[in-house]
Amino acid sequence: MIAVSNLRKTFLSGDEQVQALRGVDLEIEKGECTFIVGPSGSGKSTLLYLMAALDRPTSGSISIDGCELTEMKEVEQDAFRRAKIGFVFQQFNLIPNLDAVGNVLLPFIPTGIDEVLVARAKFLLQQVGLGHRMGHRPSRLSGGQQQRVAIARALVKEPVVLLADEPTGNLDRNGGDEIFEILREQQRSRGLTLVVVTHDRRFIQDRDHVIEIQDGKIATSEDGLFDREPIVYNPA
Ligand SMILES: Nc1ncnc2c1ncn2[C@@H]1O[C@H](COP(=O)(O)OP(=O)(O)OP(=O)(O)O)[C@@H](O)[C@H]1O
Ligand SMILES: [Mg+2]
Repeated sequence: MIAVSNLRKTFLSGDEQVQALRGVDLEIEKGECTFIVGPSGSGKSTLLYLMAALDRPTSGSISIDGCELTEMKEVEQDAFRRAKIGFVFQQFNLIPNLDAVGNVLLPFIPTGIDEVLVARAKFLLQQVGLGHRMGHRPSRLSGGQQQRVAIARALVKEPVVLLADEPTGNLDRNGGDEIFEILREQQRSRGLTLVVVTHDRRFIQDRDHVIEIQDGKIATSEDGLFDREPIVYNPA
């Protein structure tokens, strides 16, 4: 579903060049649950943003669902992202003066909203456990509830790929557990390809695909990272 090859991203920060990604290769199968882990500043968010076509790489290629992102024009990338990719941010990014339904429907504001879409938004809010909060604005929702709205918003376009950057980073332990339950449930029932950047290894389960990044590159077992921090599946 996703194939990344020799991906490089260099940022210019003043006079200084920051090599955030230094030749990343990876493949992610359709319907897989993949975790991207690694130290702060290693390039995890940069990689996820490039896969979401939210930014362009310096060089290399990214193919998603058979389409090469780097060969697309800006407008084509926008259309591709709108149709195929759902994105969940750490900071929820909800609009304060819209209620939950309005926030879920946000991706359709440019193209128009009809009754079918409103019904879909409400159904999704029910699925993420917010059937009783549909008319609430973000300020009247807890952090975990706001993130559920954001997940419903990412799913309303019926994407093939769902990308999440530290989706539980602003939540307490219980809130984080609930968000992961919802992400996994949606991934299973929709056959979604789910890619999550996280610091928290307790969410990783046996069959998950784990990609470890260190200093802008995929870490191999020779780097000793896998030995130092074993991945433990805690079913509790
Ligand atoms: N827009 C930017 N301009 C300049 N440098 C950037 C920019 N975005 C990221 N970087 C740099 O690229 C490197 C990788 O950043 P990135 O945000 O991808 O790390 P990360 O693994 O997501 O870290 P964290 O776990 O803290 O979120 C860092 O050194 C960062 O400072
Ligand atoms: Mg990050």
